[in-house]
Amino acid sequence: MNGSDAKPFRRRSQEWFGATGRSGMLYRSWMRNQGFGPQVFDGRPVIGIATTWSELAPCNSHLHRVAEAVKRGVWQAGGFPLEFPTLATGETLMRPTAMLYRNLLAMEAEELMRANPLDGVVLLSGCDKTTPGLLMAAASVDLPAIMVTGGPMLNGKYRGQDVGSGTHVWMFEAELKAGRMTQEECYVAEGCMARSNGHCMTMGTASTMACMAEALGMQLPGSATWPAADSRRMEIAQLAGQRIVALVDEDLRPSQVMSRLAFENAIRTNAAIGGSTNAIIHLLAIAGRLGVPLALDDFDKLARPVPTLVDLMPSGRYLMEDFCYAGGLPVVLRQLAEGGLLHRDQITVSGQGIGVNVADANCWNRDVIRPLEDPLLPPGSGTAVLWGNLCPGGAVIKQSAASAHLMRHRARALVFDTPEQYHAVCDDPNLDVKADDVLVIRGAGPRGYPGMPEVSNVALPAKLLKAGVTDMVRICDGRMSGTGFGTVILHVSPEAALGGPLALVRTGDIIELDVPGRRLSVEVSDDELKRRRESWSPPTRAPTSGYAWLYVQHVLQAEQGADFDFLLGSRGHAVPRESH
Ligand code: FES
Repeated sequence: MNGSDAKPFRRRSQEWFGATGRSGMLYRSWMRNQGFGPQVFDGRPVIGIATTWSELAPCNSHLHRVAEAVKRGVWQAGGFPLEFPTLATGETLMRPTAMLYRNLLAMEAEELMRANPLDGVVLLSGCDKTTPGLLMAAASVDLPAIMVTGGPMLNGKYRGQDVGSGTHVWMFEAELKAGRMTQEECYVAEGCMARSNGHCMTMGTASTMACMAEALGMQLPGSATWPAADSRRMEIAQLAGQRIVALVDEDLRPSQVMSRLAFENAIRTNAAIGGSTNAIIHLLAIAGRLGVPLALDDFDKLARPVPTLVDLMPSGRYLMEDFCYAGGLPVVLRQLAEGGLLHRDQITVSGQGIGVNVADANCWNRDVIRPLEDPLLPPGSGTAVLWGNLCPGGAVIKQSAASAHLMRHRARALVFDTPEQYHAVCDDPNLDVKADDVLVIRGAGPRGYPGMPEVSNVALPAKLLKAGVTDMVRICDGRMSGTGFGTVILHVSPEAALGGPLALVRTGDIIELDVPGRRLSVEVSDDELKRRRESWSPPTRAPTSGYAWLYVQHVLQAEQGADFDFLLGSRGHAVPRESH
């Protein structure tokens, strides 16, 4: 009983497995064809294990083994674990971009969690979109949930040096284009970069989102950084399996864990780890599911007092394995807490405040995790949010991955309507381009591409690379891989396909970037922009059927998390209508 005048307590799963008559027989009998004895229907918590395992998502291809560890924990704690597949949005193979399918994963996982007899859920993710997609789903269903990310790959090793997934792909590409590396050497290097299970081991989007899940309180302390190949990855997965059973009894839900304060913790953590710009879009989308008020400007304001502490590629030198052995995210969180930059009392899936979780965290390598008083980069070096007549809905730049000498820049625009248009000419030795030009790449926003791909950090024109140029200002309405680097302005909103000012810029216009002043503008009068808009027509290549059509009809802009308008908010876990 929950109280003297309360109804007898009955778990959600008992609406299925505790039923009598034909319905109960249907629910139980078909489960018994898997060899589950009648005792598993005795009212114990039924724990779903939502896995994004797939051989088409290489970063998640070991999640079956992680799921087995979770199951051990669930059984140990007296629960009944049931693993089920959700859409595996692997970053490397899916075209046009895995981001097109993040919302589909979130939608599918949400419906599966609600439609089935589950009392709690363990979320198994890894590759970039799988972590936010499952968190969005869990937020909308609001059943007790705990996340276990699959962990990063071991450090890449090539010719005696550490090489980072993603980050070194861009570097090797530039070396190849400049003639300093052969194709044969690239073949060898690609095998050296990915030498174990796991997701990207740079501070790319997957590592960032794993850290965000921990900073939001949805992963157990220390869970974000254990390498996939480390046996302690399985230990923590087992612990999560035990913990979810208790979470169900405590009825501690994502809506209590992921409060506004938890998002503030996550945003500051992202600044401290030099995390991916993609975290902005994903955190906005998760917050949108919970009805937590969060705006693009929050990312700038909250991050400004936070120095970059973690020296990881692409902003720094090391990789996730080093971060883990240095003490991992708990060290960063402890330092933020001691610096007054963390809401210590915010509850987490451990059942304790985040400050208590990390109170004893020790740092074992001060080269990798720097102290607050001697940071890698000073406060305010994280992702900046820009405003101006070129981006009335905002734009972002990852300062820690950009060139200091380009933070204030005024130059001619060289405009390409699509990334493909740029790629068709970028190797032309006669391309009319100078090192101080501003490359404008448009048509890569949520609707325009569609799916907002990671194409913004286009490789520099070959003739400039050969001349030794290493960076240029690039402006785009798309995204950049969290492993990418360069002075790249991203997420320009409204996107060109919606007729945003980016659509109206012409080659030869002067663009002014002022990152310290948080400004991005084009020196074209309002009247001239108005004239150009009158003669502008939207691109004609929008999809007319299928999922891509649905996406284009309903996707929101970057500053709203690029979620679907009809998926905002929480729909809870009540089944809309019983059929039996
Ligand atoms: Fe999957 Fe980087 S490609 S995490």
